[in-house]
Amino acid sequence: MSNVDYDAVALHPVPPRMINGTEVPFIGPNLEAYQKAHAESVGENADKWWAKMARETLHWDRPFQTVRTGSFENGDIAWFPEGYVNACYNCVDRWAFQDPNKTAIIYEADEPGQHKNISYGELLREVSRLANVLKSHGIGKGDTVTVYMPMTWQAVAAFLACARIGALHSVVFAGFSSESLADRINDCKSRVVLTADEGRRGGKIINIKALADKALEKCPNVEAVIVLQHTGNPVGWVEGRDKWWHEESAKVPNYCPPALLNSEDGLFILYTSGSTGKPKGIMHTIGGYLLGAAMTIKYVFEVHPDDKFGCMADLGWITGHTYLVYGPLANGVATLVFESTPVYPTPARFWETIDTHKLTHFYTAPTAVRLLRRLGEQHVAKADLSSLRIIASVGEPINPEAWHWLNDHVGRKQAAIVDTFFQTETGSIVLSPIPGAIETKPGSATVPFLGMTYALLDPTTGKELEGPGVEGVLVFKNTWPSIARSVWKDHNRWLDVYMRPYPGYFFTGDGAVRDKDGYIWIKGRVDDVINVSGHRLSTAEIESALILYPGVAEAAVIGANDELTGQAVHAFVTLKAEFNYDPTNESGLIKELVLQVRKVIGPFATPKKIYIVSDLPKTRSGKIMRRIMRKVIAGEGDQLGDLSTLAEPGVVSVIKDKVAAMS
Ligand code: WTA
Repeated sequence: MSNVDYDAVALHPVPPRMINGTEVPFIGPNLEAYQKAHAESVGENADKWWAKMARETLHWDRPFQTVRTGSFENGDIAWFPEGYVNACYNCVDRWAFQDPNKTAIIYEADEPGQHKNISYGELLREVSRLANVLKSHGIGKGDTVTVYMPMTWQAVAAFLACARIGALHSVVFAGFSSESLADRINDCKSRVVLTADEGRRGGKIINIKALADKALEKCPNVEAVIVLQHTGNPVGWVEGRDKWWHEESAKVPNYCPPALLNSEDGLFILYTSGSTGKPKGIMHTIGGYLLGAAMTIKYVFEVHPDDKFGCMADLGWITGHTYLVYGPLANGVATLVFESTPVYPTPARFWETIDTHKLTHFYTAPTAVRLLRRLGEQHVAKADLSSLRIIASVGEPINPEAWHWLNDHVGRKQAAIVDTFFQTETGSIVLSPIPGAIETKPGSATVPFLGMTYALLDPTTGKELEGPGVEGVLVFKNTWPSIARSVWKDHNRWLDVYMRPYPGYFFTGDGAVRDKDGYIWIKGRVDDVINVSGHRLSTAEIESALILYPGVAEAAVIGANDELTGQAVHAFVTLKAEFNYDPTNESGLIKELVLQVRKVIGPFATPKKIYIVSDLPKTRSGKIMRRIMRKVIAGEGDQLGDLSTLAEPGVVSVIKDKVAAMS
């Protein structure tokens, strides 16, 4: 990305299918319409505008009088505080009452040809039953429920059942290890865990229950584990604690009334990585989050009632929460649950899925696009894909090659390509083109969403950078409905990480450029977070995992550019003097260290390279100089800059030699 000459990138016109296939975009037909709507959404009468949006978009059990209160500095943000609103009712009941046979979920199983549509009526019954099961285990408003499930339609029901009774779900990505799962269960003190016997992915079995059992050895608070029978293979069982989902469901009524919940009651916790080791439980509340999810689905994705929304993200990440579950269902459209991988059984799987279900929307991460592009056009060429109106990307900067590949081979220059930027903390999309209204530029997330005002700050002075052609840290200036409210049971940490670095602003952790046309280009994280295939990882977390290995003295982890995964994890490790290390079996030790990271965090955090070195570059005060390792790996070992603070100058050549030997 750093090589792009932003100002030289031409504006890309609004695609024909977007305009011809549907009426004028909801926001209006052009840039002026966007500018007018945006000005209204942030101007003097912004609160009036938001009130109208909230009333139009959601069903309120009790009306609100106040639109917003609180500030970043005071850490007391609230939206629609007198309002009562149930997220599950908004996502399920109101559509089931209108038309119970309308498809809510399209479940595309791991094996092609095995798919099933679940109607809103059926979803309401499943959600009601599960909500009643949770209640029968003593779960109610304010309790937390950990969900550790494969990509099944029942996992969506799990989200909604919690929301129905006011319990907060904490969904843990099924790729996390037992240890990570245990940490997350214990942090939010869940008494009930929802899981499955096994998962399937790319023709392989994932032993979800066995992983959960191992985690639960360390979770004394857990009283009940509700297990979905998914593959039907035998699994370990703890009598008294473990219950089959279908058996429990058969005991309770098929209808459960939605709880009366305040707009500011908690909806969910989602753990995410930050600069420091321990993952943070980001907490969202009901009314504001749901409004952000629903409105972005409408305006950013131009969703119409008969659309079929294909979000390929995992349910365990914020994109799965907002754009697989809450956003599409709050708009009453069909949403896809995709259990497989882009390459199973062949690299045509996405395209076949789109054609089978006539998906109108396809939402994925650049990593998948880069992989499929590399595997060749022949796989996509055979597909029809004419149902697609909008193709969107999220999670990492999309390189122009990937953008053009999507546009040429998937959208066939007829569909809109939308690069959307958001974070676990922002809840819903905050920067993005509005298809049909905003001309795009390949690689740019373009403009702020309605209600958002942003600034680029000079990182050292904290001053706002004015005008075009500037680069700084990306912050947001006013509160918006779907911003998270806190870190679970650690409000001070919430303030420390997001509100205190630049007082008066919300700090994203990303750097960005504003080009000559005022378009925004995300450059990537400015903190110690690395983004591997759109997965957020903290360098500190991986270092802590490595240090737990008995022979490791020190570890330094950096993110290096990678053609396929965006960034990749590179780890430098020194060993304890007393460790009995056999240099002729370096590869054996590296394998063990890789296993160590997989065991402590999960397979998706696997380091691409581990370098065993005799020393790490440090300042005289003992601070590890990661900058040096970053430059050496980037092939810029001759541009290391000022090395005068380095305690042991000889270490630079140790690093250089090792990297050269292993590349
Ligand atoms: C990155 C994922 C560039 C960014 C939705 C952010 C992006 C982090 C984009 C949040 C994009 C997300 N272009 N970078 N369109 N979207 N990011 O919380 O670094 O898992 O801070 O949410 O992903 O990751 P998270």
